Order: sequence, then C-alpha cells, then structure tokens
Amino acid sequence: MRAIIILTFNFLILNVNGQEVDADGVTEEVQKLIKLCSFCTCSEIPEIDGTHLVFNILCSELDRIQNVADLDKIQWPENPNGLKISAAFEGLGLNTLGRLPPNAQVETLRFSNNAIKTYWPDPFSDVPNLKRLSFSQNELMEITPDLFTNIEHLEELDLSYNKLTDFNSLDFKFLRNLKRLNLQSNLIKKMPIEVLSPMILLEDLDLSKNGIYDLLLQKTESEPFKVVKRLSLSGNRIRSVTKESFPLNNSIELLDLSNNVIEIIEENAFLTCVNLRELNLGQNNITFTFALPPSLQIAILKINTLYHWPTFPDGITYIDLSYNRLSDMYNENQVEFENLEILNIGGNQIKDINIEKKLPKLYSLDISYNLIKDIPKCLSSQILPKLEELRLDGNPIEDVYFKNILSLKNLYLNDMHKLVTVKDKAFSNVIGRGDETMNERNCFYLYMSNCGSLSEIQDGAFDATSLCMIDISKNNLTRLSKDLLDWRALTEGADLQYNPWECSCPLQWMLDDLLPTLYKSNSRLLTELRCGSPRGYEGLRLVHWYNWTEPAMCSDMMMRAGPHGTYILQPSTDSGPKFNYMIIILVACISVALLIAVALFVYLVRNRRRHRVRQAALKRKRQTASDIKNSNGLQKEKFGAFNKA
Ligand SMILES: *[C@@H]1O[C@H](CO)[C@@H](O)[C@H](O)[C@H]1NC(C)=O
Ligand SMILES: *[C@@H]1O[C@H](CO)[C@@H](O)[C@H](O)[C@H]1NC(C)=O
Ligand SMILES: *[C@@H]1O[C@H](CO)[C@@H](O)[C@H](O)[C@H]1NC(C)=O
Ligand SMILES: *[C@@H]1O[C@H](CO)[C@@H](O)[C@H](O)[C@H]1NC(C)=O
Repeated sequence: MRAIIILTFNFLILNVNGQEVDADGVTEEVQKLIKLCSFCTCSEIPEIDGTHLVFNILCSELDRIQNVADLDKIQWPENPNGLKISAAFEGLGLNTLGRLPPNAQVETLRFSNNAIKTYWPDPFSDVPNLKRLSFSQNELMEITPDLFTNIEHLEELDLSYNKLTDFNSLDFKFLRNLKRLNLQSNLIKKMPIEVLSPMILLEDLDLSKNGIYDLLLQKTESEPFKVVKRLSLSGNRIRSVTKESFPLNNSIELLDLSNNVIEIIEENAFLTCVNLRELNLGQNNITFTFALPPSLQIAILKINTLYHWPTFPDGITYIDLSYNRLSDMYNENQVEFENLEILNIGGNQIKDINIEKKLPKLYSLDISYNLIKDIPKCLSSQILPKLEELRLDGNPIEDVYFKNILSLKNLYLNDMHKLVTVKDKAFSNVIGRGDETMNERNCFYLYMSNCGSLSEIQDGAFDATSLCMIDISKNNLTRLSKDLLDWRALTEGADLQYNPWECSCPLQWMLDDLLPTLYKSNSRLLTELRCGSPRGYEGLRLVHWYNWTEPAMCSDMMMRAGPHGTYILQPSTDSGPKFNYMIIILVACISVALLIAVALFVYLVRNRRRHRVRQAALKRKRQTASDIKNSNGLQKEKFGAFNKA
C-alpha cells in the first residue's frame, strides 16, 4: 500500500516536472525528443560542388547527446528554406540503429566511427530521398535487405571498415540506382558477384583490403561487371588472372590489382577489358609478360619479378616498371612510344640505356638504381626533346659528363657512391628549361646529395650553364670554389649542409657572398652548414660568423675555445677593448710578481748579512772565552807551582 502511494507520488512529481516521462499512453504527446540543433552543429553550407546550399547537421563525440542509443527519438530541425539535409552522427558510440523519424529532405547520412552492430528493420524507410549513406568504421557483420527498404534512390554506399564476411543474393536488391559501393577493409573472401547484380548502374566498386583469393567475374549470369568502370581489388590474396577473370567487352576503365600475390597471368587475360585505360599490377609476383589491351594508357607494374618488357600499345603514356629484373631496354622495332610521357625503370639491372628512336612526348625519365656506368649518350635533346625531369640516382657512375646537349628542369644524381670528382665541363651541355610562356630564366635544379666519396667539384664543372638551385648536401666536400657558380643567381638557394667543410681562408667567400643571401631567403639551409676542420672549428656552424665585419676564416684571433668544448665568439666590434684589458691584467700580474720577487731578494740578502754579522760576533765571543780559559790555566799552573814551591 505504502509502495503504491510512493510510486504514484513519484509519478506525479515527474509529470509536474515536465517531459521526463515517456511511459504509457497518457504522456505520449510530451515524449522527450532530442532537438538536434541544441546539441549538434547546424549550419547552412555550400554543397561540395558549390552549386547550392545544404542544411548540414554535425553530431560528433564532442556533443554530449544523452539517450542517443537509437536515433528514433531525434527531432529533425526546422528547415524553413527547404534545403536538402546532410547529417552526420560520428563517434557517438552508437551500437544499434533505430528507425529515423520522417523527413523527405534528408539526402546524406553518415554514421562513421560508431559501434553499430545491429539495426531495427527498415531504419530509413521514412527518409525516402536518401542518396548517400555511410557506415564506415562500425561493427556490422551482416547485411539484410530490410536495411535498405524504401531508399531506392541511394547512389553512394560506404560499408568500409566493418566486419562483413558474406552476403546473401538478395541483400542489395533494392539498390538499383547505386553508383558507388565501398566495401574496403572487411573480411570478404569471395567476390559477391550475384549480390551486386541488382546494381545495374554501378560504376565504382572498391573491394580492396579484403581476403579475396579468386577472380572469376565472367561466370556470373547477370554480369553486373558490364557497367563497372573503376574496380579496386588491391590488397587481397589473388594468385592468378585468367581469361575467365573478366566478362567479355566489360566497361572497366581503371583496374587496381596491386598488392596481391599474383604469379600467373594468362596471355590474353586482360584482352576482355576493351575499355581499360589504367592497370595497376604493382607489388605482385609477376615474372612472365602478357598481352595488354590496345586501349591502355597507364601501366603500373612496379615491384614484380619481370625479366622482359611487355609489349605496350601505341597509346601508352605512363609506364612504371621500376624494381623488376630488367637487364635491357625495350626493343625499338617492336614498340611505338609516340605518346609516352613518363617512363620509370628505376631499380632494375640495366647497364646500357640506348635509345635511338625519338621519344617526342617524354618529359620524365627515371633510370635510377641500375648498373649504368656512364651518362648515356642518348640523353640528348635530339632524342628527348620534351624531357624535364631526369633521375640517375644510385648508379655506379664514376665520371659525370653529359656528352650531348640536353635541356632539363630537374636533374637527380643522388646516392652515387662511386663518384669522387666532378670534373670541368661535366654539366656544360645541360641547359635549363624555363617556361617560355612565363618568360622564365633557363636554369635547372641539380640534386647531387648523399654521394659519400664526392670530395671535389672542379671550378669549371658548370661552365656555360646556369642553375636555379643546387643540392650538394651529405657529400665529402671540404672546399668549393667561388667561381664554380653565380651563387647570387640561385633563386632557390644552395644546400651545402652535412659536408666536412674546411673553414679556412679559401672558404671565406661563403661567409661574404653566400651566407647573407641564404640567411635572408633560405635560412633552413644553414642549420647543418658546419665546419669539418681545422680541429678547433670542427662542428662549428658557419652561421655564427654571420654579420662579422672582419674575414673570420682568415684570422683565428677572433675565436677561442670556451668551457665544455663550446665556443665563445665575440663580435669583432668589442673584441678589441677586451683584448687590451687582458694585456693590462697580464702586465699587472707580472709587475706584482716581480715586486714580490724583488722584496724576497732584498729580504734574503739582508737576512744573510745579519746572519753573517751574528756569526762573526759569536765567533769573537767564543774566542775571548777560550782566551780567558787559557789564561786561567796558566794562572792555575802558576798557582800550582807556586803552591808546590
Ligand atoms: C565484343 O565486342 C566485339 C567488337 O566490338 C564484338 O564483335 C563482340 O561481339 C562483342 N562481344 C560481346 C559478348 O558483346
Ligand atoms: C613472391 O616472391 C617473393 C620473392 O620472389 C617471395 O619471397 C614470396 O614468397 C613470393 N610470394 C608468394 C606468395 O609466392
Ligand atoms: C672523405 O675525405 C677524406 C679526406 O678528405 C677521406 O679521408 C675519406 O676517406 C673520405 N671519405 C670517403 C667515404 O671517401
Ligand atoms: C645581424 O645584424 C642585423 C642588423 O645589423 C641584426 O638585426 C641581426 O639580428 C644580426 N644577426 C645576427 C645573427 O647576429
């Protein structure tokens, strides 16, 4: 009885206090609703494409929404302008998704980064105009058809970073208008082909980072892959690509199969991909070549074990064959590289680069980390008229010399461990390539860093050419001539750091000419610009001499070692007086010492004389005493004789 009274009492209080109650029938109309805009950030912002405004609602972990366990209690905000609504509920710890209240304006919903595992049936059936939906980074293990009821206009679905393993053939049956599906980073082992068949407009399919091991897309009857344009299967466990892998005359334009374990590719496997423009097979175990479709423009085959060049179609513009086992260049009689713009064959075992047929459009050539001993003759503007970027790093080149005229913007010669001396005229044939339309100066950027043995660059190395920037850091250089370059013309500075510079008079020009310019425009290039010798200067930064009026490297009076191996540097202006002061102190010390010495001497001399006088006096005394004694004896004898008598 008492309990009932208390309960009723409580009930009354709650009722009086307002909308806390969401109990039976009576209080339904005062049920507490979560007004989104009182907790979350609401704003009207331009849509990504900038054409119109959207009403943006952002609820993140920073917003302290209570009782948000399922979102059926939210209240959509007033939307007086009737804008499309984009709402995000991110990082709120949601684990169940409730049924959202009706709203026909909602176009985008994102539930990224929650813990959603389950959902009520038909959660979106009252937001019928949904176009974009994301469940990225949740705990979904399976999907059922009732997740997507009544959202037939959905175009974009992101289910990445969940725990999906398998699908039923009807799971996506409502998604007939879907264009983009992201299933990246789930636990899918088999390609869900039948499942995708309702999506007759699908263009983008991302299945990367799953555990898919076979690639048999042709066998499907409904052939959803007839329309897919971009397919990513990167980071799976695919071992082979066969003639059955892709449907006939498919629409795939971009195919990413990188990061798998592909060893076998059947000769004609890709010829069904008649629209293929970009193929990425990087980081697999491909050893033998295979046919490439005529439509191909971009071929990425890096990090494999290819020994030979595949036959590229005429339209190819981009080839990346870096880090394979090539030992020769391509056969010029078999291929046409009229359209080739970028060629990367770094990290192979090629000894000779001999190209005789012009590559009219090539602007980037990477032949780094091969076995090239000399700068190849074919590197000339005649054969490579459009070249802008050339990478020769890491080759065993002992002597840099460009035999033919070559126009460039960037030249890379890093990591050349056999290079000891760069001789006169080495770069005389390299001409910078300025932008003619912009009226730019013709100069080039030279990167020649990390060549551990490089200890000399002869004065005439850059005769008749001009640089915009030079990076000769991390070499073994001790000296550099002022006449090497027009240092003041380097628009992007000079990186001379990490070299054991010998800080003596021949390098004084660096302080006079280079330091002030670098200090003002590229001071980061001074951080590790240090002396390597002579001994007293080791490790000292050149920037310490900035602002000195006297030639610091030509006189070592300016510097003395301080405590703990550091250096105490005194600006030249007040070092003079301090120097004089030192002398005065020294003179004073010597004078005092002298005075003390003189005093001591005088004292000693005096002491000696006194001693001698005292000695003499003593002697005399003793003499008198003995005289007396003697005379006494005589007297005694006298007395004795006298007594006897
Ligand atoms: C594929 O295209 C070729 C040429 O365009 C055509 O001859 C062939 O019949 C097509 N095959 C299919 C299965 O559509
Ligand atoms: C791929 O090739 C590398 C080196 O050739 C080898 O170590 C690796 O085991 C191969 N991977 C597979 C899955 O066969
Ligand atoms: C760098 O130069 C010094 C002499 O200046 C030489 O003793 C040393 O061996 C050189 N280091 C390398 C890696 O060649
Ligand atoms: C160099 O001198 C200028 C003005 O003379 C002064 O502003 C600047 O701080 C000085 N820099 C250094 C590193 O002493």
